[in-house]
Amino acid sequence: MRQYLVAGNWKMNKTLHEALALTSEVVNMISDEVTTPVTVVLCPPTAYLSTLNRYLETSRNVVLGAQNCHEKAAGAYTGEVSAPMLQSIGVSYVILGHSERRQYFGETSSQLAEKVNSALTNGLKPIFCCGESLEQREGGDYVALVQNQLTESLFHLSAEAFANVVIAYEPIWAIGTGLTASSQQAQEMHAALRGHLAGKYGPQVADDTTILYGGSCNEKNAQELFAQPDVDGGLIGGASLKSREFVNIVKSF
Ligand code: PGA
Repeated sequence: MRQYLVAGNWKMNKTLHEALALTSEVVNMISDEVTTPVTVVLCPPTAYLSTLNRYLETSRNVVLGAQNCHEKAAGAYTGEVSAPMLQSIGVSYVILGHSERRQYFGETSSQLAEKVNSALTNGLKPIFCCGESLEQREGGDYVALVQNQLTESLFHLSAEAFANVVIAYEPIWAIGTGLTASSQQAQEMHAALRGHLAGKYGPQVADDTTILYGGSCNEKNAQELFAQPDVDGGLIGGASLKSREFVNIVKSF
């Protein structure tokens, strides 16, 4: 069964005090107002994961995600955090391959394949990001390009392992720009990605895969985006930093 999911990617924002306030507001609003079966994933900065976990222990459908992890389990990698460490503090999901990581930290497809392996081996569900730049979209072959991102970093997985992966389609030109993909543009890509998954893993696995949209998704456009048959939720950046707006997005299904 396909799972509906909304994840908040806080990126490098919020002090601890602000993070605690945002978390408790979101948890309370979700428990009071959300009746549909949707998984909510909060992805705060790594420094707060352990503290915030205590707030989430009693909440039914709000869980924690990290924004990245290293591909190795342990070792001399100053400043990094590994999948077993995240797992040991109660993290359930990890965003991998966000375009900011690819762009600013030089993450490659083969490195992401290793990160995906490490996450899955340690019981974390990857939220695997893919997406094209504006230049690539205008170049015309953007669908094949994004499909290829899945091939390069995920298609070594068995169908059983792949069942724990969430895909997030995030057109780079829409991230943090206020330029959202139209619901038709999102649906076109999501359907093409699902078709690509069906070619590799068969129609049942493809149908069961959660595919999120990300890129300037907000409380105004979420409903139309989530109404598309192949859009199963969102990866929310800027709009996840405000509790009221984020919960309104969660309520958009
Ligand atoms: P945005 O970011 O919602 O601020 O565009 C989305 C993301 O980068 O995950």
